[in-house]
Amino acid sequence: MAEKTGTAQLTIGEKTFDLPMYSPTLGPDVVDIAKLYGQADVFTYDPGFTSTAACRSAITYIDGDKGELLYRGYPIEQLAKDSHFLEVCYLLLFGELPDKAQMVDFEERVTRHTMVHEQMNNFFRGFRRDSHPMATMVGVVGAMSAFYHDSLDINDPWQREVAAIRMIAKLPTIAAMAYKYSIGQPFVFPKNSLDYSSNFLHMCFAVPAEEYVVDPILSKAMDRIMMLHADHEQNASTSTVRLAGSSGANPFACIAAGIACLWGPAHGGANQACLEMLREIGTVDRIPEFIARAKDKDDPFRLMGFGHRVYKNFDPRATVMKESADEVLELMGIHNNPTLQVAKELERIALEDDYFISKKLYPNVDFYSGIILDAMGFPTAMFTPIFALSRTVGWIAQWKEMIGDDEQKIGRPRQLYVGETYRDYKPVDER
Ligand code: CMC
Repeated sequence: MAEKTGTAQLTIGEKTFDLPMYSPTLGPDVVDIAKLYGQADVFTYDPGFTSTAACRSAITYIDGDKGELLYRGYPIEQLAKDSHFLEVCYLLLFGELPDKAQMVDFEERVTRHTMVHEQMNNFFRGFRRDSHPMATMVGVVGAMSAFYHDSLDINDPWQREVAAIRMIAKLPTIAAMAYKYSIGQPFVFPKNSLDYSSNFLHMCFAVPAEEYVVDPILSKAMDRIMMLHADHEQNASTSTVRLAGSSGANPFACIAAGIACLWGPAHGGANQACLEMLREIGTVDRIPEFIARAKDKDDPFRLMGFGHRVYKNFDPRATVMKESADEVLELMGIHNNPTLQVAKELERIALEDDYFISKKLYPNVDFYSGIILDAMGFPTAMFTPIFALSRTVGWIAQWKEMIGDDEQKIGRPRQLYVGETYRDYKPVDER
């Protein structure tokens, strides 16, 4: 437990309760209410956990007002410029940047696990060809617990590590297989002479009939997308992984739960939803109609790719991603296609519009990642699987941290019950 640095007082009726307070290394102080129910017989109410820290963590820090994102203390902008995805994986998992020997060893271990069990190919073939790749991924990653029995014991640190390496290594293979299956092409085996992101692009875009050479600009952009999505503190999918893991569920089942949560359009599914929205808007002259809908309280429509629960200034990932978008569009010779025109104009209008300014709604990472992935040739259905394979390391690092935390218990929120009070059952002919 962190050191107690103060006391908060809560008065309910005639009684006052002392609540311990802790100071984090960064961010606001925390009031500990864990014993409040026992002492005062009240619950706290916080739908969406907007004011509740559900765990202590030393992995990622976000300052939403400053637009700051740190992995283990290192700013995302520095990592995105000078590091690479597997180094970021090491950092998130083990807490420090690796030295040369540690990096070589880690890369070798990940690379040796990129292939999937041959029997998994048959498992894939059970899905309909038109399944959404996220549906396939939830199923296949969950099914890893049926294929890798020797890394299911969460109490054995060695097995935990093997499971972590397996998932980091195999998620790109599984995502690429889901894609190939959906377009009716043969699976492409991993090529271990390639780096992590080039290997993923190769598995997605190569065909056995032709030589495929990965463009270094595209592989750099893919690597950046992976780094920028690698972890993001206690977001919905990470909290889902932690909650699933708190019961002692095996790591593959926990990550499958995270993938399921990520799929939603308010979370990882926003990149797909954003590009589909840009296409639906279609032409610049229709933007005002969609802006009006986004402002209309009676219309559930939201501008996808705008806004964030934590960033209320700008999303630092979006700034880096915008740079990559420019590089990739230049390389692909895409200067003014209709979707890009709509995206640029929408971004301009929303940044000048009072509604968006007053509510602090800025383009988020998904606004730009969709544009890049589209330019690379990925169909929109693959956007969220790419987010999932990038976030896998963050989920695992958080899961590992939770298992090693001696304060960890099974997650069990309470509720503000608003249903019927006690009533007697009546047989059907008396109702
Ligand atoms: N378009 C129009 N209005 C919006 C939007 C939007 N994208 N986002 C929020 N608002 C309004 C909302 O209607 C509300 O207005 P009011 O105060 O008048 O009721 C106000 O802004 C605050 O919204 P909120 O729903 O309380 O904010 P939240 O923190 O719960 O939601 C969010 C955050 C990301 C779910 C939301 O901004 C949203 O739905 N954005 C679109 C989906 C999206 O792009 N998601 C990707 C997030 S980044 C990737 C990731 O981390 O997964």
